[in-house]
Amino acid sequence: MVTAKIEINDESVEAQLGERLLAVARRNTSHIGFFCDGNGLCTMCECKILSGADQLNEPTDIEQVWLTDARMADGYRLGCQAALRGVGPIQVLTRAEEMRRQLDAVLNPPAGTTAISNVRPLLSTIAAVNWQHIGRWPANLIHAIKRLGFVAVLLPTTDDKLMAADTIRITRRLLAKNDSCLPAAPAKKTDLPD
Ligand code: FES
Repeated sequence: MVTAKIEINDESVEAQLGERLLAVARRNTSHIGFFCDGNGLCTMCECKILSGADQLNEPTDIEQVWLTDARMADGYRLGCQAALRGVGPIQVLTRAEEMRRQLDAVLNPPAGTTAISNVRPLLSTIAAVNWQHIGRWPANLIHAIKRLGFVAVLLPTTDDKLMAADTIRITRRLLAKNDSCLPAAPAKKTDLPD
């Protein structure tokens, strides 16, 4: 087995040549979305390839149908379509984590920034993602029905137990690792200087 050097959301994870990014992320409990269970229907597994894009396969026809040219030009791929064709190094930021960080920057603005200034990147991502769905409709849906059939488009999950188990594992880890989606608690009186 040939291992690849890859970072997802700033963490080194274990991966093998030929694996898809979504499979790597799920196995390593990385924060990623996969509502359609990797069937190329939801785009929740979308990832930004920060470096090492040449270590991945070419975008598939599914990505061409679902992602806008602008998103692809910005380095976005679908995690369930992008497969490791080289051993890296590759750096990936999942859309789920990108948006979590953007939300965190609004709720807990880093020093020197404000919630107002930080809301712009979050709104911009939300707009881009929604435009992607709307702008690609109905070609994306027609393509999916031709590829999978109507029933599979409505019920895409292929392994319910694994899907539920991975969702629980990833959610638990996210909650344990980071509770910063909540506004920072106000300093206790005893923490304040006299
Ligand atoms: S998991 Fe739904 S498109 Fe990749």
